[in-house]
Amino acid sequence: MLLLYSIISVVVLVILLCFIILLLEKILGFSGEVEVSVNSEKTFKAKRGLKLLPVLAENNIYLPAACGSKGNCGRCRLKVISGGGYPTALEKISLSEKDIKEGLRLACQVKIRENLILDIPKELLNARSFNAKLIEIKDLAYKIKGLRFKLEDGEKLNFEAGQYIQITKDLPRERAVRAYSISSSPNIKDEFTLDIQLVDGGLMSSYLHSLKLDTIISFCGSFGDMYVNSENKSDCFLLVAGGVGLAPMRSIISYLIENSSKSKIILFHGVRSKKNLYFENEYKKLQKDNSNFEYYPVLSEPALEDGWIGKTGLVTQALEEYLNEKNIISSSLQAYLCGPSKMMEVTTKLLLEKGIESSKIHSDPFSF
Ligand SMILES: Cc1cc2nc3c(=O)[nH]c(=O)nc-3n(C[C@H](O)[C@H](O)[C@H](O)COP(=O)(O)OP(=O)(O)OC[C@H]3O[C@@H](n4cnc5c(N)ncnc54)[C@H](O)[C@@H]3O)c2cc1C
Ligand code: FES
Repeated sequence: MLLLYSIISVVVLVILLCFIILLLEKILGFSGEVEVSVNSEKTFKAKRGLKLLPVLAENNIYLPAACGSKGNCGRCRLKVISGGGYPTALEKISLSEKDIKEGLRLACQVKIRENLILDIPKELLNARSFNAKLIEIKDLAYKIKGLRFKLEDGEKLNFEAGQYIQITKDLPRERAVRAYSISSSPNIKDEFTLDIQLVDGGLMSSYLHSLKLDTIISFCGSFGDMYVNSENKSDCFLLVAGGVGLAPMRSIISYLIENSSKSKIILFHGVRSKKNLYFENEYKKLQKDNSNFEYYPVLSEPALEDGWIGKTGLVTQALEEYLNEKNIISSSLQAYLCGPSKMMEVTTKLLLEKGIESSKIHSDPFSF
């Protein structure tokens, strides 16, 4: 009997405590939900304890997030006007002191704890989510596949030449989000192509290389500041790509040629050996047919059987020799760089030394 009384007392006590907690939450505003306000235009509820980046995506606000929320690409930055708590150690590495003072934060690192007031650049609010069907697979080069997708439901993808999308897929080890540059022309809106390099042990690139025709993928976009559109007027576009960094350049070249640009277009493409080179024949033909297009493939380690008679060494060395020989540098020259971080670092240094203003050097590293 005593045991029954004890059990009943405990149960009553627990119910009473729960009731008091719920009452306090209601009175003091400690409910499981908070309010998130974006640019004083959009407000939505969000659960406490969740990370801000996926919550924004659930509310149709897609920020660039090229490192898959690891906190090291710095692309998911936004301004937290109030309610973000203190920056994490990772944010202190990715953001400068000045950024932090101005209230910049990484959405992938901000944990929702209280009401939030956010300021997100307007152009980022244009990104949307889409589904697309794989309609063509091509072997472009060693470990590089060209995948062509058609947008579902008659949707159109608006993007600028040089921009990228983010593919999301629940894979065995994680919910993977990775960035891929669009390699097709922005003049085609219902289809697009990606050039995907297989990274050994890479989650998303292995998944994309294993895709079968008719598979539907989900992605959001478009993103990126490295692009060419009708506002970028220049006498000369200098494009420097390393490996699969050719992808955004392919889009830029298509855009310029299709729009009958009179600008000079100079493409340097650095790869290890001939098997890593792609679109060589197409660009050789384009060079023949267009007096304003110059193409320089550069092999850093040509194999004996390559029989290579073109430029060799690092792409930056070949570019330096070219710049020393030809007088192409003018105040209107715009340079676009894409590839491994090291190549981009060295090329940027070279271009600055040659007197090109930093505002005319546009780049998007594939690694971070
Ligand atoms: C803006 C942007 C645009 C991009 N566009 C393209 C594109 O057009 N085509 C394309 O193929 N890739 C592109 N990438 C790279 C792509 O987003 C992925 O990082 C890449 O596919 C590897 O992802 P994963 O999931 O296969 O590898 P993960 O599972 O993320 O990595 C597996 C291992 O490989 C290492 N690793 C990751 N990336 C590379 C790399 N590139 N080279 C060598 N080792 C690596 C990692 O450090 C890790 O140890 C782009 C990246 C950015 C930021
Ligand atoms: S997603 Fe890369 S830093 Fe946030």
